[in-house]
Order: sequence, then C-alpha cells, then structure tokens
Amino acid sequence: MRNVKLGVNIDHIATLRQARKEKNPDPVEVARVSLNAGADMIVMHLRHDRRHIQDEDLLRIRENVKGIIHLEMSQSKEMEKIALKVRPDSVCIVPEFPGEVTTQGGLNLSGKLAELSNLVKKISNAGIEVSLFVDPEPQSIRVAHNLGADTVELCTSKYAASWGKKLQTKELERLQLAAFLANELNLRLHAGHGLDYYNAVPVARIEGMECLNIGFSIISKAIFVGLRNAVAEMKRLIQ
Ligand code: PXP
Repeated sequence: MRNVKLGVNIDHIATLRQARKEKNPDPVEVARVSLNAGADMIVMHLRHDRRHIQDEDLLRIRENVKGIIHLEMSQSKEMEKIALKVRPDSVCIVPEFPGEVTTQGGLNLSGKLAELSNLVKKISNAGIEVSLFVDPEPQSIRVAHNLGADTVELCTSKYAASWGKKLQTKELERLQLAAFLANELNLRLHAGHGLDYYNAVPVARIEGMECLNIGFSIISKAIFVGLRNAVAEMKRLIQ
C-alpha cells in the first residue's frame, strides 16, 4: 500500500457559513471531523476577497486543531505577513485573479521571479514548507526547483476536465511526465484541483505521489453521506 495522503480542502464549508455570516458550519469542527475520518491535513485558501475562509478561521484552526495545516495563498505582502503570523505547517503559493470562480491553473513561472523567490525564501526560513502550484510542464517543475520549493503541487484541472478516454490518457501522461521530473529533482509531489471519486485514483497511482488535495467533490458528497463518510471514502480510494 502506498498510503497516498489526503489533504481535505474545507474552503466550501466556509462558503456555506458565509452565506449567512453566522458561526455554522464551523470550520474548526469540520477540520476535526475530517482528521478523525482519515484526512492527513487540512487545506484552506485564504483569498484576498475573503469570500470563504476568514483570517480568524486560520487562527482558530491553528490554535484548536491538532493536525497538519496547509495554507494556499497568492503572492502578496499581505498574505506573506499572515503566513508568518499563523505559521501553518506548509504553504502552497497559487495564482489568484479577482472574480475567478476557482483557481485557474498553475503559477506563471516565466519572466521575472525575484519577488516569488523572496517569498519562497522568507517562508522557508520561517520553517514552513513551501509548495508551488504548477501546471504539469517540465519547465515549471525546473523553475520551482530552482526557486527552492520543497514541493510542487501539479494542477490536475485539465486532466479532470478532459472528456473521453483518449484525452484523459493524454492529460494523465502529462502529469506522469511532470511527476517523473519532480522525482528526479527530489521535489515532493502533490496534485490537486477538480479531483473527485471517479478520477482521483490514476493520479494517486503516479510514481512518487505523496498527497492529493481535494475539496469540492468531498464537500459536495458530504451533503448526501455526511462528512465523515465522504472523507473516509476518498481516503480509502486513494491510499
Ligand atoms: N489545490 C489547489 C492549489 C487549489 O487551489 C484547490 C482549490 O482551492 C484545490 C487543490 C482543490 O480543488 P477542488 O476543490 O477542485 O478539489
């Protein structure tokens, strides 16, 4: 058994809570239940528009939940400050554009990267592991390595959206190739975005895959079967 880890992204629990801006459903409780059900870490994306996770959620989870906390954030001074204050176990730097419904692919790692390089160093020096969310392209993997990232999280959204066996196989091969290079460069390997109960297993079986970060499909299934069952079922599938 490979024991691929499961990061449960709880953003959409906070989306529901924000619909009324009340206390429930409480992300602290959700984090505890997820970890009890087999999640290996809790993932949150603190967005600039604070549409779901709030600063206070991060702090409360850090203080009240025993478990690995993984923060997704964009590259900005504001987020850097928050990460250094809250001290999650790991940070994944992701692109973020105003008005987007969800993250639109990996970081653009062409062009000037001095600021990103600085951010990676500062977070890393604080003892927080740094992951970069990248498209499954060899050049992005090489740049992530040069920037000193500990981990690359391969963006699986194209794979997840691909329709039909032929296209899906092509996208899976892109992920496998990117993973091969990440393994060669001793980068830790995560993947995520758009993964669900039907498409996650082939990604989990990629050589060297350490962790899948999954949110929307788990929270959606939880409506029907409960959060504990939804998390446990995904963990059973991918490990
Ligand atoms: N990984 C990253 C970097 C993401 O930005 C997201 C979405 O917040 C996910 C994984 C989880 O994606 P999904 O909610 O589609 O499972």
